[in-house]
Amino acid sequence: MLLEVRNLSIDFKTSRGQIQALRDVSFQLSQGESLGFVGESGSGKSVTSLAIFDLLASNAVLRSGEILFQGRDILKMSEAEKQKIRGKDIAMIFQDPMTSLNPSFTVEYQIGEVLTEHLGLEKHQVRERTLELLSLVGIPDPQARLKTYPHELSGGMSQRVMIAMAIACNPKVLIADEPTTALDVTIQKQILSLLGKLRRELKMSLILVSHDLGVIAQNTDRIMVMYAGEVVETGESKGVIQGPMHPYTEGLLKCLPALHVHEPAGFRLPTISGIVPNLAERPQGCQLAPRCQYRQKNCEQVAVPTTELPSQKRQVRCFYPLQASKEIST
Ligand SMILES: Nc1ncnc2c1ncn2[C@@H]1O[C@H](COP(=O)(O)OP(=O)(O)O)[C@@H](O)[C@H]1O
Ligand SMILES: [Mg+2]
Repeated sequence: MLLEVRNLSIDFKTSRGQIQALRDVSFQLSQGESLGFVGESGSGKSVTSLAIFDLLASNAVLRSGEILFQGRDILKMSEAEKQKIRGKDIAMIFQDPMTSLNPSFTVEYQIGEVLTEHLGLEKHQVRERTLELLSLVGIPDPQARLKTYPHELSGGMSQRVMIAMAIACNPKVLIADEPTTALDVTIQKQILSLLGKLRRELKMSLILVSHDLGVIAQNTDRIMVMYAGEVVETGESKGVIQGPMHPYTEGLLKCLPALHVHEPAGFRLPTISGIVPNLAERPQGCQLAPRCQYRQKNCEQVAVPTTELPSQKRQVRCFYPLQASKEIST
């Protein structure tokens, strides 16, 4: 297994007390695979990504867990070892390229910095590789772009530069946290297909993070659905979309605009009613119970374990998974 996260629980110290941002998050990522993290805002997608990339804020408290990269726990590595992996073997891109690109330096300088730091390339090699990377990410006329500053680039082009920097060292894992959320729909599609193309060509594994289940379903092999810092459902993207087992996944699916193309004008998309629990005072039982139309008495009282449904390659954290009755009866 390339990357395996086991029982990761992370708190944050805040002025309102300690909040449990992640609880018992576990998942695996194999080589070349694409995995999507999906869930509403605040569900713990970015904290999970940042934990893998070892970039958590200083008020984070690791309560438990392991993050095994090629069998070695990142959480136990020295700063120097982590530095070697971060940006080289594991790379990350974020929602807003403008906050990650340095406005004072040219495209050539910023990509070159990554190449010099991690690969120790010579000056002429850096230029060559930079041009190669720019064309790989579909930037027209790369030569002319070398001396460009970030503010001269469109949103889509900046994101392409960010991707060029991220893949500069041929990472084994690329984590893309809401990489297209700030872009308009056409550009969004182009960037997502670029990520797919690069994953296949470079044989990378991809973790794609989005609040949009549609984006995740169309661009990943497997989906991990998060709610209130917990993994509620994991499975093959196609299977999850065709037959969600967790009521929360079903809720997300019902909110997808694509399902409502035939609705009359003025139709308003449904949203899941209710709000995410207060992470400082979590409910005792299932975290979704207060919002769940299928809840039973025990859902509100007993913590829910994760159930494996091997025949469907599915894991679901629910006492009463949808569709599961079908499996039991067959
Ligand atoms: N540095 C921090 N300090 C306090 N709370 C944080 C910090 N970072 C994230 N959180 C909280 O952790 C939870 C998960 O956040 P996040 O992973 O960013 O959600 P997502 O990316 O799914 O929208 C949220 O409740 C968020 O407010
Ligand atoms: Mg986020």
